[in-house]
Amino acid sequence: MTAATTMRNPELDVQITGMRLEAAGVISLELQTPDRSPLPAWTAGSHVDLVLPSGLTRQYSLCGDIDDTLRLRIAVLLVPTGRGGSREVHSGLRLGQTVTIRGPRNAFELQPADSFLFVAGGIGITPILPMIRAVQKANAKWHLMYGGRSRASMAFIPELQRTGGGNVEILPADEVGLLDLDSVVARAAAGAQVYSCGPGALLDALTARFAAADLSDSLHIERFGAAPVASGTTDSKAGSLRVILARSGATVDVPSDCSVMSALRDAGHCVPSSCEQGICGMCETRVLDGVPDHRDSLLTESERERSDTMMVCVSRARSPTITLDL
Ligand code: FES
Repeated sequence: MTAATTMRNPELDVQITGMRLEAAGVISLELQTPDRSPLPAWTAGSHVDLVLPSGLTRQYSLCGDIDDTLRLRIAVLLVPTGRGGSREVHSGLRLGQTVTIRGPRNAFELQPADSFLFVAGGIGITPILPMIRAVQKANAKWHLMYGGRSRASMAFIPELQRTGGGNVEILPADEVGLLDLDSVVARAAAGAQVYSCGPGALLDALTARFAAADLSDSLHIERFGAAPVASGTTDSKAGSLRVILARSGATVDVPSDCSVMSALRDAGHCVPSSCEQGICGMCETRVLDGVPDHRDSLLTESERERSDTMMVCVSRARSPTITLDL
């Protein structure tokens, strides 16, 4: 594990001091330190890793009050067909139980602006909640478009209506259809910075619309997982990525349909991992030569430009070979 990884992942034991049903299939957990000492500070858009008793680790946005130094809140959507993390949270965790968290970390930072439009889809409302409180505090102009399958499945509606009143548009698909993306683009054209979190299809559609309108700089998104590889952006897409392991001199060829991490594992080289979605930093690996194609949601712009590390669970390479400090 690199020094940078250790810094990104401080661990803390916390106790579950509240559990609440927020909507159909969504529960929130309130977390406090066992001795009720203050928790690490965080900023709107941050998330934590939740290490479950089974060893599974999942990432959840913090959706509580930034000014409350004693409590963190996360909300978890039950995904019956998922990889098991949400099922364990919903049926395995109990009030009073101690769990471990890592973080908080922020890959979805709110930048200062005069006007904001928040676009949330389903459980994507979680990072948006503290963002709304932050922009209210800054006296900025804001509006929320919150979509979901149905009103019953959408968490935190009463809290949002209390906080935001007329700035909050609740838009369940079974009542009003899909979110009106033309209106999102129009608000951005009028000067709003748009922050969106939700299903991949929503974020893909927004990304395409904003690119077509030459407004990409106004759109800020957070995905639940890694972004898809854009066609033609990497040599590795064509199947020509070769990883050189500097310490042993071994080489590992990475097929186009396989992550660098999987190829390394298949070749018997173990890299620490957690999310495998480019959002926790656990697999951060030093790059000694070659040009990474960063696909994570964690590195800052300057870290990307430096390109001296990469998240091997999702990132690939723009050069035909890349040399890692492994
Ligand atoms: Fe989490 Fe790679 S395992 S960023």
